[in-house]
Amino acid sequence: MTNPRMHAFRSRLGGLAYGGDYNPEQWDRATWREDVRLMREAGVNLVSLGIFAWVSIEPEPGKYEFDWLDEVMDLLHEGGVSVNLATPTAAPPAWLTQLHPDVFPIMEDGRPLGLGSRQHFDHSSPVYREYAANIVTRLAERYSFHPALAMWHINNEYGPTSYSDAAADGFRRWLQRRYGDLDTLNDAWTTRFWGQVYTDWEQIEVSNVMGVWMNPARRLDFRRFTSDSLLECYLAERHILRSFRDDIPVMTNLMPLYPHADYWKWAPEQDVATLDIYPDPGDPGSHISAAFHYDMFRSLKDGQPWMVMEQAASAVNWRDLNLVKEPGRMRLGSLQALARGSDSVMFFQWRAARGGQERFHSAMVPHSGPDSRTFREVADLGRELKLLSPVAGTTMRRADVAMLFDWDGRWGLEDTGRLPRNDFDYCDTVLRHHRPLWEHHHTVDVVSPKSDLTRYKVLIVPNAYLIGDEGVAAVTEFARTGGTVVMSFFSGVVDECDRVRPNGYPGAFRHLIGAKIDEYWPARPGERFTVQFADGRTATASWWREDIHLETGTALATYADGLLAGHAAVVTNAHGSGRVVYLATLLEDAAFDAVLLDAVRSAGVRDPFPGVPAHVECTVREDERNAYLFLLNHSPDMAVTVPLNRPGTDVLTAAPAAGEITLVPLGAAVLQRTR
Ligand code: GLA
Repeated sequence: MTNPRMHAFRSRLGGLAYGGDYNPEQWDRATWREDVRLMREAGVNLVSLGIFAWVSIEPEPGKYEFDWLDEVMDLLHEGGVSVNLATPTAAPPAWLTQLHPDVFPIMEDGRPLGLGSRQHFDHSSPVYREYAANIVTRLAERYSFHPALAMWHINNEYGPTSYSDAAADGFRRWLQRRYGDLDTLNDAWTTRFWGQVYTDWEQIEVSNVMGVWMNPARRLDFRRFTSDSLLECYLAERHILRSFRDDIPVMTNLMPLYPHADYWKWAPEQDVATLDIYPDPGDPGSHISAAFHYDMFRSLKDGQPWMVMEQAASAVNWRDLNLVKEPGRMRLGSLQALARGSDSVMFFQWRAARGGQERFHSAMVPHSGPDSRTFREVADLGRELKLLSPVAGTTMRRADVAMLFDWDGRWGLEDTGRLPRNDFDYCDTVLRHHRPLWEHHHTVDVVSPKSDLTRYKVLIVPNAYLIGDEGVAAVTEFARTGGTVVMSFFSGVVDECDRVRPNGYPGAFRHLIGAKIDEYWPARPGERFTVQFADGRTATASWWREDIHLETGTALATYADGLLAGHAAVVTNAHGSGRVVYLATLLEDAAFDAVLLDAVRSAGVRDPFPGVPAHVECTVREDERNAYLFLLNHSPDMAVTVPLNRPGTDVLTAAPAAGEITLVPLGAAVLQRTR
């Protein structure tokens, strides 16, 4: 279902959104005029304005200076640039923290954050919330009906956590809502262990400074509470904005897999899912992990177009080594986001700052000005995006393969601590499962335990150590009704309160995988095992083993050596009319890929672009009339020729294409075909 606010937004822009964060408060008036001229030259049609400008709008408590912002809004409007106007609440002014030091969040070690950066607000501080509500109200009063306003950008990359007294109050209220009474909470947190039983809500605090280890269920709930409390800040601001005008889309820019926000809860509250993404030009696989993030952001709002809200025009400045994007890489990365469903290409930032923490972060207009490689590439891309206008609003074909990504599961695995091994990396694990699918041109939808799974053929469940009853039921039902589940080790172990599920491991999935696990056997550092498949192939495994005892399942592979020789390492089991493949160890990549892809193929899902090399990304976006085939060559040094099963027209060159098409290194084509 198309969101009417986004429908109106798209009509207003007449195509894809192009632009970036704009901070005119750092520049003089003459520069503003030059900015608008250059924006027109570059094809910019949207800027995110005033993200950190609180003190420039309210230099003293209750004293407002809107003249400069009025002028900028008017200038942009005259220049044909729409505004994604930010609420500046990620940068509380110095006067506010001076007046109310308790606006500062308290860090995990009990110390407050200081002034001198940004995001120094305590999400649970009533004082912060009150002042934030006030500045948002003032902005909404003044600009809700300004003709340049196209979208509201709330805050910026919400965070951080806080362990303050205000957070403790908020946490207790949150727990009261969740558990109702202390008996239920004590049970959920297993507080009989080490005699931690609570007899009064006031005894519950948030300090993370412990002599020995923290109660894992409390830690988990604190994660959930923090995400909800940050979301409350967003919702409070959204409520104010909507009370003035209800037809403008509202969003907040999210980071890739931020640990403090459960995006499944955040996404429904946004008109569009928006992502800030900075693939490292120094990492040869960064476009593959970017593809996962794009799949996730497309999936967050059920396949609707999403938006890249920030990316770098060239280098960032926050890694130890900040490589430039070589010629063509920024363009290719931008087209990749479009290829996977984005309706925008936005940057941090429009003009490179002269001072401050990000003075060496690239920008659409770099320090060397418009006569520069970066600006030329930016302007060229602006022209190409105009040609791609018809792509706006189209959606990707629905995937056959779904990947479970669950914030509860992630927190369980990474944060509760004291597991058989304590170096699990949930996100890396998910990416490891996504890569072979990407290499075989499979679109993957990312799903939560609450998603509708009926439309998928395959469900990938990476290391789902903690999974709630709803998730267990969903996964089990998916297999029972004919789906193929690919699940990796240490899944289904505990419930949503981090309590080990009864009747042997994996309590949640013993019937599903058709095997009981007696013990988890993490491997010693460097330890390797040989695994033998039924067809005689062997492979190396490491990191993790499970002492598996087959019940209804059968072994796809067994250990050929070590104390578990003869035990299953990969299990398959029929369940209802579906099937499960359970990987009980960490296989080397080639063998892992083979097991996963074989399960996908056996489920009737074919590589949609067979014969096209792995480094050529191929996707389709479409509407009722047209299909757009994106072909992206990620190799920096090899041209590639791709066979075409149907002719089309390359939107970027207007050239007809039939039979085959050649892509230069880092080259791309977008073929339009009627459906
Ligand atoms: C984040 C922020 C921006 C900027 C960029 C730099 O995404 O939202 O303000 O700091 O990082 O890469």
